[in-house]
Amino acid sequence: MGTGALRVADGAKSYHLDGREQPVFRTIDLCVEEGEVFALLGPSGCGKSTLLRAIAGLEPLSAGRVAIELGGVGIVFQDALLLPWLTVAENVGLGLRYRANRQARHGGESVDQILHDFGLAPVASAYPNELSGGQAQRASLARTIITRPRILLLDEPFGALDPRTRAAFQDWLLGVIRQRGLTVVIVTHDVDEAMYLGDRVGLMSSRPSTVTHVWEIDHGAERQRASERIAAIRREILEAYQADVPARDSKPNWVI
Ligand SMILES: Nc1ncnc2c1ncn2[C@@H]1O[C@H](COP(=O)(O)OP(=O)(O)OP(=O)(O)O)[C@@H](O)[C@H]1O
Ligand SMILES: [Mg+2]
Repeated sequence: MGTGALRVADGAKSYHLDGREQPVFRTIDLCVEEGEVFALLGPSGCGKSTLLRAIAGLEPLSAGRVAIELGGVGIVFQDALLLPWLTVAENVGLGLRYRANRQARHGGESVDQILHDFGLAPVASAYPNELSGGQAQRASLARTIITRPRILLLDEPFGALDPRTRAAFQDWLLGVIRQRGLTVVIVTHDVDEAMYLGDRVGLMSSRPSTVTHVWEIDHGAERQRASERIAAIRREILEAYQADVPARDSKPNWVI
């Protein structure tokens, strides 16, 4: 691994609701190395998506700063967010229309080629409501990847998939990441997924949250889904989840 690709320094975010300041997270210090996959876990509502949006520059932090050392940040949102009136090919091509300097950075990758690489060629002319959840997520990822980001932010990309499809997609995603030399921050609720994909796994506490733990995952020569080493870290992560006592005034997500 080389130099830091993105940094969050003393990051904090609050929203104002009904005239009251509602802190979401604070004192977040994060440095993701070039080529690293950083997986982020944390309870629902703790601010994972908010942090990704701040890293992507879509929302300002309330304090602290985000530094992007590598050009081009792409984000794939928690919902696929495909435009229902466009076909898969048109949705993917949309990424190019919103890419500044697309001639300079695009590097000639065509919509057809990326549809083929992502296994979407057979559904190129289908509309989003004719896709499976996995196809929709791949189309959403293709729309981002075609802009050739160096840093990819993924918000629960496989949330809607069954375990077997999910495992296959994780391997496929690792291939995409390696082939394109991406630096990745991926949010997931799945501890096993975090450990399989992540070179490091970070855990956020309940709101007002911060990153309380970071585990290095030594994948050895080949990534494994089950090993004694993985099982030991898994136990530690689950214990840390259990030990996290939500702040008394934080409401469950479904009330808000
Ligand atoms: N625009 C906004 N205005 C006010 N509050 C917001 C806004 N966006 C998010 N929040 C609040 O910030 C908190 C964090 O939301 P966020 O979506 O980042 O959580 P999350 O960790 O991604 O949750 P989940 O795992 O359920 O996706 C939530 O309590 C949410 O209600
Ligand atoms: Mg979220």
